[in-house]
Amino acid sequence: MKVKVSSPAGIGNIVCGFDVLGLSLDLPADIIELELTGDNKTIIHHTDDFGISEDPDVNIAGIALKAIQKHLDQQHGFIATIKKLIRPGSGLGSSAASAAGIVVAADHLLGNIFTKEQLVQFAMEGEYIASGGYHADNIAPCIYGGINIIRSVKPIDVIKVPCPDVYITIVHPMIEIKTSEARAILPKQVELYKAVNQWANIAALVAAFYSNDVALMSRALNDNIIEPVRSRLIPHFDEVKEKCLQHGALGGGIAGSGPAIFMMSNNIEKAGILEETMASVYRKAGIEYNTYVTTINKQGVKILS
Ligand code: HSE
Repeated sequence: MKVKVSSPAGIGNIVCGFDVLGLSLDLPADIIELELTGDNKTIIHHTDDFGISEDPDVNIAGIALKAIQKHLDQQHGFIATIKKLIRPGSGLGSSAASAAGIVVAADHLLGNIFTKEQLVQFAMEGEYIASGGYHADNIAPCIYGGINIIRSVKPIDVIKVPCPDVYITIVHPMIEIKTSEARAILPKQVELYKAVNQWANIAALVAAFYSNDVALMSRALNDNIIEPVRSRLIPHFDEVKEKCLQHGALGGGIAGSGPAIFMMSNNIEKAGILEETMASVYRKAGIEYNTYVTTINKQGVKILS
């Protein structure tokens, strides 16, 4: 009774849709192995070097598994071995990948007894520890695949949106931003004219995904509420964004709560040019970074064996 899954990174918010839009990525992805046992214990092992606690009451995957155990009448124990390739605190949905990957793996071992909505619910219990808020814009795409609108988390209401033909270029400057801290600095209230502008962009972006209209995507990838506040936490954010737009990006912004920055483009050559554009900014600044050129993952968590 063992399963191995790959659980992908993602991009929460997709610029204007704070907490309500998210997408899953083909790269990078964590590898999670899970074994079902007869006792009621949860054991977590990490084979990565990120120093993540293996205490199941603190570990995100452990908490998500415990949410499943609490829900079931029978006793079920789990032994998880997690190799994270998505760096925690990157903005690429690392905690969501742990939480979503583990609940999909557990559901597989239990005979696919849960709905996707239930899986999102269990995984959100885990992610709450990392972010201090209930939001599913990273978890849902990891479970449903593709691009999702999270209309509500109470009850869970997820709408899967068609994926446009775009490439996604990412730069991750090697600083860590905790989601909980990046949420704590946000304004509690928003002026009406800014809200109007924001929901116009969200609606237009979703329409652009349905029609694969890259010009509309480009106009709609704007955030005048969250980005102006959070971008101050990311060194050289404005420079990266400005240069990428000059070099043919459709648009982009902070990946989740940062510090990773992503840009969409409509062909692989441009995606490569954007990678070099982003890299050159951090190279010049002497800041370590990682880059990825990837695409939207239509499946989400994948059973490998
Ligand atoms: N919507 C979340 C945020 C994504 O921006 O805080 C990060 O987990």
